[in-house]
Amino acid sequence: MTKIAILGIGTVGSGTADIFEDNADVIRKNTGEEVQVKYILCRRMRPESRFADRIVLDFDTIESDPEIRVVAECMGGVHPAYDYAVRAMKAGKHVVTSNKQLVAECGLELTRLAREQGVCFLFEGSVGGGIPVLRPITRCLAANRIDSVYGILNGTTNYILTEMIQCGKSFAQALSEAQEKGYAELDPTADVEGIDACRKICILADMCFGYNVDPAQVRTQGISAITSADVDYARRMGYRIKLLGRTLRLPDGRVTAYVAPHFVEKENPIVNVDGVINGIVIHGNAVGNTVFCGPGAGAAETGSAVAADILDCLTQPLSRQPAWEPQPEGYFMDADELPMRWFVRVKADLGGIEAAFGNVHFVSIPGADPAEYAFPTEPMSAKALAEAGQGLEITAAYRILDE
Ligand code: HSE
Repeated sequence: MTKIAILGIGTVGSGTADIFEDNADVIRKNTGEEVQVKYILCRRMRPESRFADRIVLDFDTIESDPEIRVVAECMGGVHPAYDYAVRAMKAGKHVVTSNKQLVAECGLELTRLAREQGVCFLFEGSVGGGIPVLRPITRCLAANRIDSVYGILNGTTNYILTEMIQCGKSFAQALSEAQEKGYAELDPTADVEGIDACRKICILADMCFGYNVDPAQVRTQGISAITSADVDYARRMGYRIKLLGRTLRLPDGRVTAYVAPHFVEKENPIVNVDGVINGIVIHGNAVGNTVFCGPGAGAAETGSAVAADILDCLTQPLSRQPAWEPQPEGYFMDADELPMRWFVRVKADLGGIEAAFGNVHFVSIPGADPAEYAFPTEPMSAKALAEAGQGLEITAAYRILDE
């Protein structure tokens, strides 16, 4: 019997513990492993929990118990998660986590420490919840040079946008439902303002391109400014608005990454990925586009990825410890320099618009503000858009994903 410990009994911690309890037979059949959750670290005793007899209040118990082979960090945040991950690895234990913030901010150091200590640090659940996406990058796509990755990386915002667009719910109502279902972060600002998706696109950039991308470098825009008029304009043009994280390698070898709402065309493979579902498109130079789709948040869903990482630590230790290098000078390009088409809404006279943007094709929707014009632009960077729009009142600007 292999003993493990889980740090935290929130959504993911309890989902992971449930899986080892409820799926013991299938786990034994698939992996030959009998896994017992020996400890769950909590801030207080939980007499109401089905795991009440395993709850401990101090990390020392876990750290000093030689029986514990894997520690699953499911607390969230950087501290004390980082400190516990370091202590566990230094005590010779494998560590797995679904904590995007921890991996995005400290992954460079923690993956290096894992290698030094001869243990695993795995984090499949940190991107895409229950979707297998990180392991396929290092294994199934290992023979490819990856050129670009983009996707719907946050279940809460995709749920909110879907409920607003399809069911006419208010932003507040849809957010409250996402919180009730356990999709949202403790502070849902991280979801709504794109911060969670930013952490995930950083991890994907780290994994796919081999060098560390700092979340602070990544231009990040959330969904809080999207209006029903934006949704109607998108529909009128044959697009749907989706919050995407995107990272790509440019022809000159530099890498960029950003998070922003996009107009996504109807033919795109993830345009109909709705609700809490995440969808990620990875382009490899040999395979072309591959699409990974599934539940991006939730207890059992993310617990499924955490549990799989735990089982990998036990059955295939060190076979593929992901790792990346510090970012070299000049590696990262500010996404504001990336040329793309934009959909813009502008309050200005026709002459001013033509002088700034040339001969554009206007789009109209019923009930539009008569003082406002809306149109797609030619490909231009965000910087060029801002310069062209000087003196005009740009009321909304969204990137158009033409792939
Ligand atoms: N709050 C996150 C989301 C949880 O909604 O996607 C999963 O990372």
